[in-house]
Amino acid sequence: MGKISAAITAVGKYVPDYVLTNKELETMVDTNDEWITTRTGIKERRILKEEGKGTSFMAIKAAEDLLQKRGIKPTEIDLIIVGTATPDLQVAATAAYVASEIGATNAFAFDLEAACSSFLYGMSTASSYVESGRYKKVLLIGADKMSSILDYTDRTTCIIFGDGAGAALFEPNEEGLGFQDEYLRSDGIGRNFLKIDAGGSILPASEETVKNKQHYVFQDGKTVFKYAVSNMAEVSAKIMERNNLEEKDVDWLVPHQANKRIIDATASRMGVGPSKVMMNIQKYGNTTSATLPLLLADYENQLKKGDNLVFAAFGGGFTWGSIFLKWAYNS
Ligand code: UT7
Repeated sequence: MGKISAAITAVGKYVPDYVLTNKELETMVDTNDEWITTRTGIKERRILKEEGKGTSFMAIKAAEDLLQKRGIKPTEIDLIIVGTATPDLQVAATAAYVASEIGATNAFAFDLEAACSSFLYGMSTASSYVESGRYKKVLLIGADKMSSILDYTDRTTCIIFGDGAGAALFEPNEEGLGFQDEYLRSDGIGRNFLKIDAGGSILPASEETVKNKQHYVFQDGKTVFKYAVSNMAEVSAKIMERNNLEEKDVDWLVPHQANKRIIDATASRMGVGPSKVMMNIQKYGNTTSATLPLLLADYENQLKKGDNLVFAAFGGGFTWGSIFLKWAYNS
């Protein structure tokens, strides 16, 4: 028996129906379509409007989409990891609820929180479990209801983010396909620049924190942009170098969708042309943990067995990194 690697064998997605356009945002805050488009590349994003529905609602839909496409029963899943920065509830893991709701009664489940890098780090975790031989079917979901933590009077954040969920199934592969290499980094300096001040253990919720709007996302956009551009490009170049990948060997760059200018800078540093760069930021904005699996779902039909994919992400914390993976199936 050959060495076991961990391959993605199916993907699924869900985005809410409600489309929040740049035009509608113009009626909510002092902004305009031209500014948002040129500074970020975003034209619209999806919002989960229905009251009482949280991140799990979208995660469940994405998982069900995947199971239906792969044609397997939920009881076959060994482990479910939900990458999210917006869990349904504090303390109670969203993943456990998702597992129960989809009928994955033989799985254990946990959440993984690394802001916009949650799915990337989750790929590392899911792959390690499969490579170890301990579990055979690991379902990784990236899901975020960013609209639940945004201040829609703050034009510096509310124009960027959207809601959505994507899922990928990791299974053993003996052809050398799937996960190849990773270069993952973090730096605690980042927590000053992208965070929610209150509601955590340092500053628990109070009347005062609500009054001061401290439960919404704060971002020092300029600083985060600077770190994101240089670090995402650096790790992507590094993973290519380490694996002797030249530009012609990379079939797809799969970059976190935070800002089209960051994506362009990363592609340019790698020497990868725009036709090889997955992009859907114009439709969904930044969906945090969901950007990478949503890209895979949207581009699935164009992916071929053996394609070389380089994933890259940067997020709050700071957390960032790059993963090299060989695609394992034709759809
Ligand atoms: O996914 C997690 C990681 N996050 C990121 O990677 C995000 C990184 N940051 C960014 O993508 C960008 O910094 C933003 C899109 C958030 C902002 O773009 P920017 O080019 O860095 O703009 P800026 O913050 O430097 O602001 C430029 C100007 C300012 O006006 P003045 O001071 O030049 O008069 C802002 O007040 O644009 C103004 N501005 C806006 N104008 C219209 C800020 N937000 C808006 C807005 N509409 N929504």
